Amino acid sequence: MSTSGSSLSETCSLDSAYWRIVRHHGREFQDYSVEKIIYPVPVDEDEQDRLNRQHLVFRKIFDGRLIFPPVEDPKKILDCGYGSGAWAIEAAEKYPDAEIIAVDISPHLKPEETPNNLWCQVDDLNEPFNFKPEEFDFVHSRLVAPGIGKSRWTGYMKDCFKVLKAGGWLQMVEIYFNVQSDNGTLTEEHGLRRWSKTFLEVYEDKKDLRAPTRLQSMMEAAGFVEVQSRMMPLPLNGWSRDERDRDIGNLNCSNAKDLINAMALWPFTERLEMSLEQFYVLIARARSEIDDLNLRPYFPL
Ligand SMILES: C[S@@+](CC[C@H](N)C(=O)[O-])C[C@H]1O[C@@H](n2cnc3c(N)ncnc32)[C@H](O)[C@@H]1O
Repeated sequence: MSTSGSSLSETCSLDSAYWRIVRHHGREFQDYSVEKIIYPVPVDEDEQDRLNRQHLVFRKIFDGRLIFPPVEDPKKILDCGYGSGAWAIEAAEKYPDAEIIAVDISPHLKPEETPNNLWCQVDDLNEPFNFKPEEFDFVHSRLVAPGIGKSRWTGYMKDCFKVLKAGGWLQMVEIYFNVQSDNGTLTEEHGLRRWSKTFLEVYEDKKDLRAPTRLQSMMEAAGFVEVQSRMMPLPLNGWSRDERDRDIGNLNCSNAKDLINAMALWPFTERLEMSLEQFYVLIARARSEIDDLNLRPYFPL
């Protein structure tokens, strides 16, 4: 598909189909993505701001590390679903001698200025990859699960495997959008549980939102070896007694409140018979619960 990027933007024009915007209840969405139910989440400034805040949460969780496996001196990196470009830009700055190729279905959220060694392309991860086999040293895939078709996971993992050089690494990070609490206070009547249950069900025909719990076995099935996975709580507020986790929760609180709105606005109001008023009542309730330290809410990460 078409290419944009600091050095290529003048020579390649993006297909206007990917730029077309549709407004839905006051937010801007990519028409193409909504039409094909690829990733119906806003592509406006509020979402760009949220993704940048969310990136800071991940920076804190991962102690500033962009890459966990022992990748030394990478020459070529692929970032799947670059969003606001926060990770890809940091990777380009940290590895100035590497070429970073970043793909996303939506070109709307990345900043105009990006490092010269970063190329951003419009592409649908649900389509077989166009890259040459064994092209990359490292593939990064973070928070794209709601945009991956139910039947695409096997192919997606295999494509990631295929484009990696021998000895290359894939790093995946996904949220399982099933809000949990370990102290028994969060019931199915709470707004946060209703949000989770509804969100996990609303795309059941199209997407596998439980895939984040099976990344290890899916990677192994695709041929990856030395696979390590870790499930950790992503606190939605500063409930933890542990100072580091409390900081993460405090940092994540505003992101979590905006996330539940952005991810659910289109599917809840378009795919379910939920009025806008009912939607906002649910979101308001869930948001007030995000402020409740006693509930100790978290997303499994
Ligand atoms: C939650 S954002 C994450 C952005 C970035 N990876 C990060 O962690 O900051 C998800 C991004 O993946 C993109 N995406 C989702 N499904 C996609 C697909 N099928 N093909 C390409 N991009 C996709 C979305 O457009 C969005 O920009």
